[in-house]
Amino acid sequence: QNSDSRTLLKMYEETAKLYSHILLKTENGSKALKYLNNRDIDKNLIETFNLGYAPNNSDLLLQFFRDRDISEDILKKSGLFAENQQGQLFDRFRDRMMVPITDEAGNIVAFSGRILDKDASTAKYLNSPETEIFSKSKVLFNLSNAKKSIRDNQNVILFEGFMDVLSAYKSGVTNGVASMGTSLTDQQLYTLSRLTNQINICYDGDDPGVEATYRALTQLNDDRFTYGVISVPDKKDPDEYIRSEGSEKFRNLVKNGVQTPISFILNYFRRHYNLNNEHDQLEFLNQSLQEIVKLDSPVEVDMYVGRVADEMNVSKESINKELDALRRSNA
Ligand code: GTP
Ligand code: MN
Ligand code: MN
Ligand code: MN
Ligand code: MN
Repeated sequence: QNSDSRTLLKMYEETAKLYSHILLKTENGSKALKYLNNRDIDKNLIETFNLGYAPNNSDLLLQFFRDRDISEDILKKSGLFAENQQGQLFDRFRDRMMVPITDEAGNIVAFSGRILDKDASTAKYLNSPETEIFSKSKVLFNLSNAKKSIRDNQNVILFEGFMDVLSAYKSGVTNGVASMGTSLTDQQLYTLSRLTNQINICYDGDDPGVEATYRALTQLNDDRFTYGVISVPDKKDPDEYIRSEGSEKFRNLVKNGVQTPISFILNYFRRHYNLNNEHDQLEFLNQSLQEIVKLDSPVEVDMYVGRVADEMNVSKESINKELDALRRSNA
């Protein structure tokens, strides 16, 4: 680590402390504290995740670091400030609930800030830009906290949002991480491969979440891992599900509700077709067979052939013939 990186790490540490202090100990933070309480995020969780509040002030952090004689160069490099057209710096995060993002060792390297009110005129989440200490393609949110639990459980749960990770953690599911809004990169997969060989995807249950799960399954073909899918019912995201159904139900879902990729994919296709219509039936069958043919295990093939045969009211023999034809044309 060069000296700039060390200074930046120190600055992020101090910034998190300041934002936490403002949230917990000042009148300025009361609005954000109320917001968190409304989301069932208690004191304990706030402390575990080191949450804070960046007040609606454009030079609070700027003055804080200028008072400490931090150079303009470092201020600019830190990513904690934005620059106006006159080249003047101002605090990047204002009036946001602040979630510190740590690297694998637990150093704070970035923030994600969430607006408190529904306000369509500004992004719901604002993330730190890339800096000398933060590369969003490397970092996984909560990895430093979750490491031990990932090893103990022999799997990692991949969530869509930070709030899902927090709620899951509170419910006792502590092996969750989230990427910074991107699909998993090779570096992130490498990092995870040293801890576990099972990745369970638990994205939001709404349509975008289901689409993202399908996309992830088609893109993730890293042989070091087996994959699973935890589907959240009622189009809820994990956080919403936990808050409406309770921790125990979520823990059960995580324990007993892990689907295989093929099972998720067949369900996914099924949702897209009107199976009362013959054209759609054949399309569904064809698409399903394209996926089943990729399976390595004969037992698995047999199981899903059986499932599709039942559902379509056709014989297993005819489906197996179709599969043989597919195998020949793929060979
Ligand atoms: P809450 O509304 O706070 O519960 O957030 P969420 O995690 O449920 O948000 P959502 O499902 O809409 O989005 C999932 C994830 O995408 C978030 O956790 C963010 O990481 C990312 N995301 C959502 N909105 C934004 C945005 O406006 N800007 C950026 N950079 N990322 C976003
Ligand atoms: Mn979503
Ligand atoms: Mn969500
Ligand atoms: Mn949510
Ligand atoms: Mn479609």
